[in-house]
Amino acid sequence: MLNFTYFNPVRIHFGAGTIARLAEELPGDASVLLVCGGGSIRKNGVYDQIVAALGERKRTEFFGIEANPHYSTCLKAISAGRQAGVTHILAAGGGSVIDASKFIAAALRLPEGTDPWGLVTGEVPMAGALPIGTVVTLPASGSEGNSFAVITHDGKGEKRVFCHPALFPVFSILDPAVTDSLPSRQRINGIVDTWMHIMEQYLTFPSDSPVQDRLAEGLLLTLLREGPRSIENPADTAARANLMWAASLGLNGLVGAGVPQDWSTHFIGHELTTLFGLDHAQSLAVVHPALLTHCKETKQEKLLQLGERVFGLRGAANTAEAVIDAERAFLEKLRAPTRLSAYGLKEEQIPAVAANIAAVLHDMKLKGLGEHQTITPEDVKNILRLAL
Ligand code: NZQ
Ligand code: ZN
Repeated sequence: MLNFTYFNPVRIHFGAGTIARLAEELPGDASVLLVCGGGSIRKNGVYDQIVAALGERKRTEFFGIEANPHYSTCLKAISAGRQAGVTHILAAGGGSVIDASKFIAAALRLPEGTDPWGLVTGEVPMAGALPIGTVVTLPASGSEGNSFAVITHDGKGEKRVFCHPALFPVFSILDPAVTDSLPSRQRINGIVDTWMHIMEQYLTFPSDSPVQDRLAEGLLLTLLREGPRSIENPADTAARANLMWAASLGLNGLVGAGVPQDWSTHFIGHELTTLFGLDHAQSLAVVHPALLTHCKETKQEKLLQLGERVFGLRGAANTAEAVIDAERAFLEKLRAPTRLSAYGLKEEQIPAVAANIAAVLHDMKLKGLGEHQTITPEDVKNILRLAL
């Protein structure tokens, strides 16, 4: 296990009726910027619960954060927040709204006129962030419990991750009841994204980290059971509650503490989203099984551990190929396609993805992607050919 510092200040309120806790979390004199997406919260009662809990506090509302949040939309929210002199940021939505809120909270700490995109690229140092609270409506990204944010510069066509301790929410409210209104596509996305977060932190090479391994395997076993359960029976709130908690624990730093991490599937997936509009989780379901095939030698030991401890494969039945097939079968059973062709993508679209990855590697001063930093743009082409 590698040396690590584990720090997670986020206070989580979990369960039915917890949106009311906003009244305890936000000071009576707070001026709150309520950041929202396209309006689902108006239809599922979340908005009314938030307004009731905020009471007389000054409230500025910003609706319109899109899936895969755009820099240009965030700029509008930043100027609304600056004009209103807000003191707190409250995100009500999924990962896109929460990530946008983190970016907005950090940008509002910069002097007016500074281009906040520099926070994402690292050219502008973080100057802290306004206090962030979240009301999670789509369990998937884990953003409610971590210090990452993913923003798309729609002018440049770049989807980039940035991370800073100031981006941890102060509190997050997870009420499983709010997921009743989720369309099945987003429920499936949530299970897949959570699965892939754990895979990026687990399926690398052995590092003598039984605590992290067993935590990861426990979450994966939960997803294997609760995922199909919740898709087959959408009214099963208990299954969705278990998935909501798994999504948060999947990327709050615990599973990944002190272990080698991959993240190449996410980097490649981000480019499929930027270039061809796949949902974030859809892009991962297409890339990951192909990536495992491409990397099965270097991932062999952890693949067999996954096969035995999560998929229950024994002896000669437990091979790298059988494990990859088991993952693909799980994703397809969830109705998450694992082929580029399912999205109408063909061989001729592959070079654009590889070119974008070359730009990402250049920006990040990396030789290659993955836990060994060996996955090059040429490897990305091979991986995507395996995903056709
Ligand atoms: O915009 P609204 O009207 O809210 O509709 C949303 C959106 O259209 C809808 N939705 C959300 N909650 C709902 C609901 N519809 C009905 N009922 C509800 N309760 O779902 C759609 C998708 O929402 P979005 O927030 O985009 O989905 P998700 O939560 O999967 O977030 C995806 C974003 O998270 C980023 C991804 O890159 C992507 O931009 N990620 C953030 C990470 C992080 N900060 O740690 C890590 C992840 O790997 C991921 O990259
Ligand atoms: Zn993800």
